[in-house]
Amino acid sequence: MNDSILVTGGAGFIGSNFVLQWLAHESAPLINLDSLTYAGNLANLASISEGPRYRFVHGDINDRALVAGLFRRHQPAAMVHFAAESHVDRSILGPEEFIRTNVHGTFSLLEEAKAYWKALPECDQQRFRFLHVSTDEVYGSLGEHDPAFSETTAYAPNSPYAASKAASDHLVRAWHHTYELPTLTTNCSNNYGPFQFPEKLIPLMIHNALAGKTLPVYGDGQNVRDWMYVEDHCSAIRCVLSNGRPGETYNIGGRSERRNLEVVRSICAVLDELRPAAHSYADLITFVPDRPGHDRRYAIDSSRVERELGWHPQVSFEDGIRRTVAWYLDHQDWVAAITSGSYRDWIATQYANRGGAA
Ligand SMILES: NC(=O)c1ccc[n+]([C@@H]2O[C@H](COP(=O)([O-])OP(=O)(O)OC[C@H]3O[C@@H](n4cnc5c(N)ncnc54)[C@H](O)[C@@H]3O)[C@@H](O)[C@H]2O)c1
Repeated sequence: MNDSILVTGGAGFIGSNFVLQWLAHESAPLINLDSLTYAGNLANLASISEGPRYRFVHGDINDRALVAGLFRRHQPAAMVHFAAESHVDRSILGPEEFIRTNVHGTFSLLEEAKAYWKALPECDQQRFRFLHVSTDEVYGSLGEHDPAFSETTAYAPNSPYAASKAASDHLVRAWHHTYELPTLTTNCSNNYGPFQFPEKLIPLMIHNALAGKTLPVYGDGQNVRDWMYVEDHCSAIRCVLSNGRPGETYNIGGRSERRNLEVVRSICAVLDELRPAAHSYADLITFVPDRPGHDRRYAIDSSRVERELGWHPQVSFEDGIRRTVAWYLDHQDWVAAITSGSYRDWIATQYANRGGAA
């Protein structure tokens, strides 16, 4: 075994931020396995794609022969598993792909990781880690005054996406408990930042505002999310990977609870300053019928990872949203490349009947 890591889903939003951060801060090589669904974009990784410590492999996590071959050839010290179908609205329209990738794909990786790990010498077995990247959505929804989700909160997933991630978390737990595979699970709150596909709330609002389109907010806009700047999430994963205790789960949150409407207004305020128009961008806000089963509030208690591993988020919501808006303003070509393609068809299918998104 060497010190390289095998990453899945490294061409997606969080995965590509992680790959860039890893190669900037760590010396170990990284192999990125990604099937390049609509959400995978190699343009995110153009700056490092020719580097000697980086290797891209185009393939599906369900292809067990391929995954086994990658373990054999690269002898990695860890697997960091991001690959997933990740958009709640898409899971409502078509849940099957979520079960295939999030549940069966995770099972396939666990089986191949187990086979590889079992054949390692004991000292390497001690070092190997399987880190599973999951979400706070597995815990369901909170009332206004409920305490934040902790690692012991009972699972209560409400959307097909959340259910598929919950199922994958349970598989990871069982592979540790039953086979002693040294797993780690992180459950993180909503991320935002560079390279996020413009179907999610924050990039969609920036995109629509710049195009002079309405800013469609679901329901009454009072749904609360605990926002996390993506670079903080990536640093938390690196911290858990090197210091986390096998078999444990760690909640990762930004301590930045915000109502959706507040988030959209913050984006408008930054845009008013950086790209002033005749009227405030906030005039474009409209309310559209709510998403079915829309969870009211998520909040993460990340005191365990802070206390036990010494990780803390570094970027406040105000700073992060400013950086994010500035990044999208500077990378309009990146957005244009996406919005000119299948994304437009997807928007048409998804929003034709309801007129909005969030
Ligand atoms: N985005 C968030 O706010 C958030 C918050 C907490 C946890 N997470 C979790 O983090 C992970 C990454 O999320 P994201 O927002 O970057 O997702 P994303 O949708 O932007 O990226 C997913 C990546 O996985 C790849 N992929 C999908 N199916 C695959 C398959 N079968 N085989 C190989 N590759 C495949 C895609 O091509 C894409 O590059 C997911 O597991 C998600 O559940 C996301």
